[in-house]
Amino acid sequence: MRMRRLRENALTRNLIRETHLSKDDLIYPIFAVEGTNIKREIPSMFDCYHYSIDRINEEIEELMSLGINYVLLFGVPDFKDELGSSAYDENGIVQKAIREIKRINPNMYVITDVCMCQYTSHGHCGILDENGHVLNDETLKYLSKIALSHVVAGADMVAPSDMMDFRIAHMRQTLDDNGFSNIPIMAYSAKYASSFYGPFRSAAGSAPQFGDRKSYQMDIANTDEAMREIELDIEEGADIIMVKPALTYLDVIRRARDNFNMPLAAYNVSGEYSMIKSAIINGLLEEKAIYEAVLAIKRAGADIIITYFAKDIAKILNNGR
Ligand code: PBG
Repeated sequence: MRMRRLRENALTRNLIRETHLSKDDLIYPIFAVEGTNIKREIPSMFDCYHYSIDRINEEIEELMSLGINYVLLFGVPDFKDELGSSAYDENGIVQKAIREIKRINPNMYVITDVCMCQYTSHGHCGILDENGHVLNDETLKYLSKIALSHVVAGADMVAPSDMMDFRIAHMRQTLDDNGFSNIPIMAYSAKYASSFYGPFRSAAGSAPQFGDRKSYQMDIANTDEAMREIELDIEEGADIIMVKPALTYLDVIRRARDNFNMPLAAYNVSGEYSMIKSAIINGLLEEKAIYEAVLAIKRAGADIIITYFAKDIAKILNNGR
């Protein structure tokens, strides 16, 4: 077989191309902060910004004009306490941002990250006992309360990222009991205890004040365990499953694709983004590397890609590719 026959010209190559990115595959993470008149570049994440509520329209309008219709919303609160109570306050930063985005454009699809680490004084993703250990079952009712408050404010979908056991079942029940049985849950199912979250943690002020997240996030060495995590989330009622990070866990994405007939998301995290962005800014890589990296996540089997590169990809797609 003469393989090169099909590579000789661009039209033939386009005809047999197996994987394509589309704007509908992409979810763009955004960060809302307290205060007014703020649009501030995040030092650890080039070209990504903190927006106060009164200027968040600038971000939403830019996304809509590029054709990106899905956002994953993170809040950076001013107020933190042991219980992360500002996470479920109806006037919390996320709740205000949801209402504002929906006011600006009801067609922007708003997914919220449900977790406690930005909101707790200790920076862990749950409630702690006196020894600083995260209490799984005690944390569930807080997570469900946070998710419910997001949905009441107008969120289209919730995405719990805490990695507590049984949270999907608990949250599903809470949403159903409150008349929100139509709101889907995207579960961060196989979320690893990764160092690639570093730039995000400085952007969101969510680094743990002591210890690490290894008692709830997954061991970076395991993939069988990832399959068990995903299976449990599906049993508990997850509508979409997720692998996170993405580029350093392409094997896990592929296994999940082959094992489960479920919509599969992958989170191309902050460290993966900043690594490539800084190489481009420093002239070490061509900008084309962005498309290649995000395409790899799709090729591995993800249907949905959460990525800070969403705008770059949309621009490439809009320019015709
Ligand atoms: C909150 C959360 C984190 C990320 C998404 N949700 C940080 C963490 O778990 O430490 C990371 C996102 C990124 O690195 O882009 N639990």
